[in-house]
Amino acid sequence: MTELKNLDKIVNLCKGRGFVFPGSEIYGGFANTWDYGPVGNELKKNVKNAWWKRFVQESPNTYGVDAAILMNPRVWDASGHTQNFSDPLMDCKECKQRFRADNLIEDNSKGKVSAEAMTNEQMENYIAEHKVNCPNCGKFNWSNIRQFKLMFETSRGTVEGQKDVVYLRPETCQGEYVNFLNVQRTARAKVPFAIAQIGKSFRNEITPGNFLFRTIEFEQMELQMFCKEEESFKIYDDYKKQAREFLLNLGFKEEHLKYHDHEKLAHYAKAACDIFYKFPIGFSELNGIHHRSTWDLSRHSEFSGKAMQYVDPVTNEKFTPNVIEYSIGADRLTLAVLCEAYDEETLENGETRVVLHFHPALAPYKVAILPLQKNLGEKAREVYAKLSKEFMCDYDEAGSIGKRYRREDEIGTPFCVTIDFDTLNDNTVTIRDRDTMEQIRLPIDDLVDYVSTRIKF
Ligand code: GAP
Repeated sequence: MTELKNLDKIVNLCKGRGFVFPGSEIYGGFANTWDYGPVGNELKKNVKNAWWKRFVQESPNTYGVDAAILMNPRVWDASGHTQNFSDPLMDCKECKQRFRADNLIEDNSKGKVSAEAMTNEQMENYIAEHKVNCPNCGKFNWSNIRQFKLMFETSRGTVEGQKDVVYLRPETCQGEYVNFLNVQRTARAKVPFAIAQIGKSFRNEITPGNFLFRTIEFEQMELQMFCKEEESFKIYDDYKKQAREFLLNLGFKEEHLKYHDHEKLAHYAKAACDIFYKFPIGFSELNGIHHRSTWDLSRHSEFSGKAMQYVDPVTNEKFTPNVIEYSIGADRLTLAVLCEAYDEETLENGETRVVLHFHPALAPYKVAILPLQKNLGEKAREVYAKLSKEFMCDYDEAGSIGKRYRREDEIGTPFCVTIDFDTLNDNTVTIRDRDTMEQIRLPIDDLVDYVSTRIKF
């Protein structure tokens, strides 16, 4: 396996094979928006399903919700977003490009200096002392740092001049906090229990980019575990482990993942940690695990006037639970899955094979049905009809069988079923394994079992 991977190759493959297209492309695009195509849509759905299966379906004390994107604006006052959700922005006065001051420092020091714990003044001083030039035009002529608001605003109401500002949610977790009492009551949940959801979030990022890594519209998979203070650090450590194991089980290599404990904590946080993945742009955040103390529920109690408390059914003790949060971007994880799966192999005949070694549970198509010749199409469609009742299947009868195998390798299809003339006599087919390229012969009746047992997550 070669280590040769770069983001451009993955972006080109995604565009060429129908994973991801630039948003609004026929209008010249719309910067940092992306549309998932036929195979990308399946991949991302499978990524979300794997997460949901692991953290909701298989977790007896976790309950899923699907909350509204538009929330009462008071939610964002309570969460602190209306006051504090902003990034330190610097303008280059020469070329008018905008940059995040912390990114300028980190990029300039090649990741050796972290700006995480720096104040705006310290960042300005660092940039001046180290003469950090504009990455775009190379000049040194910066504005002072200004805070750039990250929430997208829209308005509600139809009468001009009487519109109320509402926000597109910048994170999904507030929908979990505001439903704490509803879920606890209806599910008769006992602490520790968690509320999870998957949904869209929106952020007016200053420096979006790197394909799906940082976009202005993205999906988050978030989970809030409500617990007693005395058990909270154990739960925090458990989620750190579980989040990493989830990635390892999806096929991520250990050496491509690392924990990054936060140096600077928000005033309410008791601990915070990211898992970094070795993206082609370098080790960067893939997900976060946060110990958020009682802050979220206390703030929502204060701002809504509803006591967001839990009553212990045995002791009758009333208290505000601590919250442990686990949050991961579905698009960022999809990008990581693509990067991890991408490989270029040199075959015995000297040709290069591009292959995506997805975990079979994530692969867009589980099986491709390939009649050796077009006149075997009728039998092949019979097999397609049978298998597509169970799995997403592809069907391809165009071009040489070798080319068709290559096309399936490039979209990561784990199994290719070939229908040949023997199939007509004995109802058997060949099934080819994407990773080993080995082929075996199997009765058509055994295919569903054969594939089902190999695509489980
Ligand atoms: N509720 C906590 C929260 O939102 P975050 O670290 O801001 O924490 C959590 O975001 C995860 O969401 C990140 O680890 C990343 O995977 C994803 N994410 C955040 N901003 C993103 C963006 N602009 N584009 C794509 N994914 C993003």
